[in-house]
Amino acid sequence: MMNRRCRITGDVVTNVLDFGRQPLGNGFLLPNNYKDEYFYQMSIGFCEQSFMMQLNEQPSPEKMFHEDYAFYSSTSRYMGDHFEEFANYLLQSEYLSNKDPFVVELGCNDGIFLKHIASKNINHLGIEPSLNVATSANLNGVETISEFFGIDLARKILKKYGQVDAFIAANVMCHISDINGVVKGISELIKPEGVIIFEDPYLGDVIRKTSYDQIYDEHVFIFSGLSIQALFSNYGFELIDLLPQSTHGGSMRYVLAKKGVYLVKDSVSNILREEHNIGLDNIDTIRKFSEKVQKSKKDLVELLSFLKKQGKRVAGYGATSKSTTILNYCGIGPELIEYISDSTPIKQGKFSPGMHIPIYSHDKFVDNPPDYAVLFAWNHAKEIMEKETNFIANGGKWITHVPEVKIL
Ligand code: TYD
Repeated sequence: MMNRRCRITGDVVTNVLDFGRQPLGNGFLLPNNYKDEYFYQMSIGFCEQSFMMQLNEQPSPEKMFHEDYAFYSSTSRYMGDHFEEFANYLLQSEYLSNKDPFVVELGCNDGIFLKHIASKNINHLGIEPSLNVATSANLNGVETISEFFGIDLARKILKKYGQVDAFIAANVMCHISDINGVVKGISELIKPEGVIIFEDPYLGDVIRKTSYDQIYDEHVFIFSGLSIQALFSNYGFELIDLLPQSTHGGSMRYVLAKKGVYLVKDSVSNILREEHNIGLDNIDTIRKFSEKVQKSKKDLVELLSFLKKQGKRVAGYGATSKSTTILNYCGIGPELIEYISDSTPIKQGKFSPGMHIPIYSHDKFVDNPPDYAVLFAWNHAKEIMEKETNFIANGGKWITHVPEVKIL
């Protein structure tokens, strides 16, 4: 593994885990594209100065976020509820108190969040590089431009629309390798009393649950309060609130503003202290995580091989990006998992990245249920369990790998 430099501090990062050759997490494909399938070496490192867990290599943004991007936020009912709550949180906050606020969302996807802002006739702008989802956002009544954000786009927005009161992002900041460019862009764009509010999968949850499947090409960083503080303090910002979220298997909402503008909520010192206590600023914690990941791989392969020997049929539930890491890291293909059921139309009829497991609609899961289903969409467990009562009633069983591999 090559040593690379931290994207925040420029210091050498310590390599902690190699996942081997990986395809794109969302690179669902047809057999005639197998020969051109893109792979890269995926490994993670940890910077002991910025406390940032990061991918050593990341495919170019154009490879990951494009016209055929397969991720639509609005496929889960709970995600819809979550973004409505997020919008209400912002609308009721002190941060939008002026008369004519302007809200910008980076990576607005199909408008799942901004539509709640647009419906209140609040000035808004979505930025979404994937054209197909940006088109859906525009159709949802959300003004959206399809471009990559950085200092150039920040200046264009400033000229055309003016300064921003709230700069929002959900599951986007952790995708951006040139995070410094983004923070510089935001610094130019927001008002002196403007706020930055974003949420992303949280390192504390990843460590606690051994949810290594959060690590894939799109997630170049797994943030913590400590690493976000280290990053943003370079630009004169401070954390003013931290709000844990249950989305994506455990996320954190970070609220930042220029230093000294707002009162810092108690949550900040409480959560940062907790992070220190569990060692999110300590490479040994990340090394221990790495050992648990290797054990999780061994346990999953052993369990699936055992079930196969017993003649049991196993399918996957949810063709998540996360599952791409599990399947390729563990070397699990159609010989162990017959098919994956997924409700997203553009994934159906395609094959999983790298291991080429067929993806079928939910009808197949109902008509031809397996004996065991690996819950790849474990972050939606509640919603899925509520609707899959027949699967259990007919003798089906769930397999999960979080926090450890087991049959539920
Ligand atoms: P998601 O949670 O967004 O995970 P990732 O970010 O790792 O891609 O993806 C959930 C996937 O699971 C998505 O493809 C839709 C699918 N899904 C179902 O098939 N049935 C369901 O009931 C739910 C909630 C999701």
